Amino acid sequence: MTRRSVILGTGSLLPARRVSNAELAETVDTTDEWIVERTGIRFRHIAAEGETTSTLATGAAKAAIEAAGIEASSIDLIVLATATPDQTFPASATRVQTALGIGDCVAFDVAAVCSGFLYALQVADSMIRAGAHQRALVIGAETFSRILDWEDRATCVLFGDGAGAVVLDAQESDETTGAGILATRLHADGRHNDLLYVDGGPSTTGTVGKLRMKGREVFRHAVTNLAAVMEESLGAVGMSSADVDWVVPHQANARILDATARKLGLAREKVVVTVDQHANTSAASVPLALDAAVRDGRIKRGDLLVLEAMGGGFTWGAAVVRF
Ligand code: UT7
Repeated sequence: MTRRSVILGTGSLLPARRVSNAELAETVDTTDEWIVERTGIRFRHIAAEGETTSTLATGAAKAAIEAAGIEASSIDLIVLATATPDQTFPASATRVQTALGIGDCVAFDVAAVCSGFLYALQVADSMIRAGAHQRALVIGAETFSRILDWEDRATCVLFGDGAGAVVLDAQESDETTGAGILATRLHADGRHNDLLYVDGGPSTTGTVGKLRMKGREVFRHAVTNLAAVMEESLGAVGMSSADVDWVVPHQANARILDATARKLGLAREKVVVTVDQHANTSAASVPLALDAAVRDGRIKRGDLLVLEAMGGGFTWGAAVVRF
């Protein structure tokens, strides 16, 4: 037996406002055909006034806690992945802590943009396996609508708002067949800072800034990096893509999902796709997709999952999980 972080429950929350490509095309110089053909996106959810990253995160966390069947007060660690915190500081994780009525615990944010949830998962998993914590809330939550340049059609059609969460529990798990996070692998390459970034910040312009992306170059790196890190993380536990029941990928572009699956020889039916419904929700996209597939019954206890993401930095990573 070995100490592992087991996913007890998943949850998510999307803002009520759902915007179609056609609605977007009323104010942006674009078409439904272009967006669907190039990205697979049909809808995105946009936060209402007063709805923030921490309120979405709190809603997703409540759903995950309910699914896990635990008391919120038993959580001793909150790691929130976001690139769009409510404020520069304090960490939005502490706002979630208060909103959930959780007493003394450890709570902080992780910034790795679209890979944020994978980074947060590895951080929480490491702290659990080290014996420092028993039960963690790992959340990916974003309000990218607030940092989009709505005049830039090359980026504003691609992103949406939302949040997803998991409850991790420290359990003694069978070495070979047991549940839990089996392996995680993370990477970063800061030489590509200028391909996907926000043109502002507290220490530079003193403003929040807007998202800028050289989409074609990001695309090229995404397929190569994602396929490599999935193979690397599976290899770390002596497995291959043949062992995988479900890939739960970052939802940036349907063409990236297809190309990555093809590269690994994975059937398209094994890939959870939500990009058509949610667009790219950055750090929220993997836990949103995970929760969707758990709740509709596709992902079952015992299934072998590979979670993966890639984003600004570049940062990228993958996790192999026995659900
Ligand atoms: O989450 C982090 C990871 N992010 C990603 O993985 C994003 C990766 N990149 C992509 O998904 C794709 O590169 C995009 C969807 C962003 C763009 O697709 P593309 O096939 O690479 O298109 P492009 O940027 O090369 O643009 C092709 C054409 C251009 O027109 P010209 O120069 O060929 O005349 C653009 O001006 O499409 C035009 N275009 C649009 N047309 C209608 C760009 N955006 C739009 C738009 N509507 N919204």
